[in-house]
Amino acid sequence: MRNSDAVVAVRAPASSANLGPGFDSFGLALALYDDVEMAAAPSGLQVDVTGEGAGEVPRDEQHLVVRAARAAFDLLGHQPPGLRLRGHNRVPHGRGLGSSAAAIVAGVVAARALVHLEEPGAVESLDDAAMLRLASELEGHPDNVAAALLGGFTTAWVSGSGVRAVRVEPAVTTVVLVPDSPVSTTVARGLLPAEVPHRDAVANSGRAALLPLALTTRPDLLFEATEDYLHQDYREPAMPESLSLVRRLRDDGHAAVISGAGPSVLVLCGAAHSDAAVSAKLVERLHGVAPGWQIKPMAVDREGTRTAG
Ligand code: HSE
Repeated sequence: MRNSDAVVAVRAPASSANLGPGFDSFGLALALYDDVEMAAAPSGLQVDVTGEGAGEVPRDEQHLVVRAARAAFDLLGHQPPGLRLRGHNRVPHGRGLGSSAAAIVAGVVAARALVHLEEPGAVESLDDAAMLRLASELEGHPDNVAAALLGGFTTAWVSGSGVRAVRVEPAVTTVVLVPDSPVSTTVARGLLPAEVPHRDAVANSGRAALLPLALTTRPDLLFEATEDYLHQDYREPAMPESLSLVRRLRDDGHAAVISGAGPSVLVLCGAAHSDAAVSAKLVERLHGVAPGWQIKPMAVDREGTRTAG
């Protein structure tokens, strides 16, 4: 890469995966963002991080944004001699809110944008579909990555040609409840059984088929459509307080689920709740049910990861 003055700015959203029955498939992008500024440099690597995870994440080639960017530069055949990265993180780490997907997608999108500044024709091969495949490979599963890349509500699946995803415009808003301590996704995945009873698979597929409808036109079905039979209960030993909170919220009639691999809890609300007064009332009620948890109303992000500069 010759143009060492080139700088790009990228904003990547948080996301919630699974949404109950859509294990490793459903994703919802949330209006909480990590910002990344990336520049090609004549040599070396400089990484500065502020916000969530600052002081904890590696600031060398192991930094997730850098690893994802390097993989994208490799695919594009344009590895810059040096790189400068500045990140400001707002997505909390280890809480089931897609922080690693946001970092990976930000890295891939920033790398593509940097190469585009220098040689627009060179990035044609790395379109949205190819970025989704690359980011999913780096992440290990596609649900958060699809939502972070495309925004809105996404269904991702693995086909013969690799990971694919569709995006739908949801008519919901959310409240996210975040506990103090993280849970590792590896630990949460390790608790899942190799097989599930056929009756659970049947019940789960019905709910999964219902959820896109509930999210778009039938908010009255959100509660039933968010019932899960594949992962949440199995994960209880790693996050007993989260499961207990989901049960209390559901007993109270809320469409509450474990967000991704946990331990945060996501409450899906029909669009009527986006009215500020209604949201405030709901949040007040949630404070009563979940003392000590951070309670954050979060709109759906509609744009996915975007570039400026
Ligand atoms: N679908 C994944 C899981 C999301 O539940 O393990 C992890 O981010």
